[in-house]
Amino acid sequence: MSATAVLHKIPLFSKLAPADLDRVVEVAREKSYPRNSVILFEDDPGDALYVVARGQVKVVLIGDDGREVILSVLGEGEFFGEMSLLDDEPRSAHVIAMEDSDLLVLRREDFEGLLTSHPQIALALLREMTRRLRRADEKVGALVLLDVTGRVARLLLELADDSGGDHITRRLTHHTIAQMVGSSRETVSRTMRDLVSRGHIAVNRREIQIRDRAALQAASGQT
Ligand code: CMP
Repeated sequence: MSATAVLHKIPLFSKLAPADLDRVVEVAREKSYPRNSVILFEDDPGDALYVVARGQVKVVLIGDDGREVILSVLGEGEFFGEMSLLDDEPRSAHVIAMEDSDLLVLRREDFEGLLTSHPQIALALLREMTRRLRRADEKVGALVLLDVTGRVARLLLELADDSGGDHITRRLTHHTIAQMVGSSRETVSRTMRDLVSRGHIAVNRREIQIRDRAALQAASGQT
């Protein structure tokens, strides 16, 4: 997909007039990262915003013992790296390529220029950051209040919403899901098998399908 097409797709930039979008594309650099490479290191200073043009990345915290917590998985059209640009603090987490990924990189000056000249971009940014805060709040609640089945059910509903329906097309292994819900790969595999046998979800090579949304909502404490 061309850089213009990617930027046009993301809510952050979609409201820009074509000439302004072209200007953003002009100042953005394209960079490729192989699978498993670290794009941003936690605690490094931040000087750029990144948009995923192709591929998938994970936002992670890594403990001293090497254990990973995945805060978020971001796919095509999603952005990261805005936090350090806004508060001048170091990077809040590592960002690692889960697949070979192509990114568009916007320098701090260009991003700040866009925010001040286009209030609609600042508003879209606030909207997305609010969505991420809501998700983080829900995740904290789930970690304390739900068992693993509830946490997996909640995550599956969230991923289905991201895909705009009842099909999860994001490519996630059970190991990754475990790191997203704070559990082990074995427990997540058992939970997924159980959800399939109850008819709550169906799984094939390409996607996970939500079969019984009400049952997943009940398991995740939503009514
Ligand atoms: P920054 O702190 O500059 O670098 C790490 C980036 O990860 C951060 O900006 C955000 O873009 C992203 N990030 C951090 N926490 C979350 C989260 N909970 N959900 C989604 N993205 C996040």
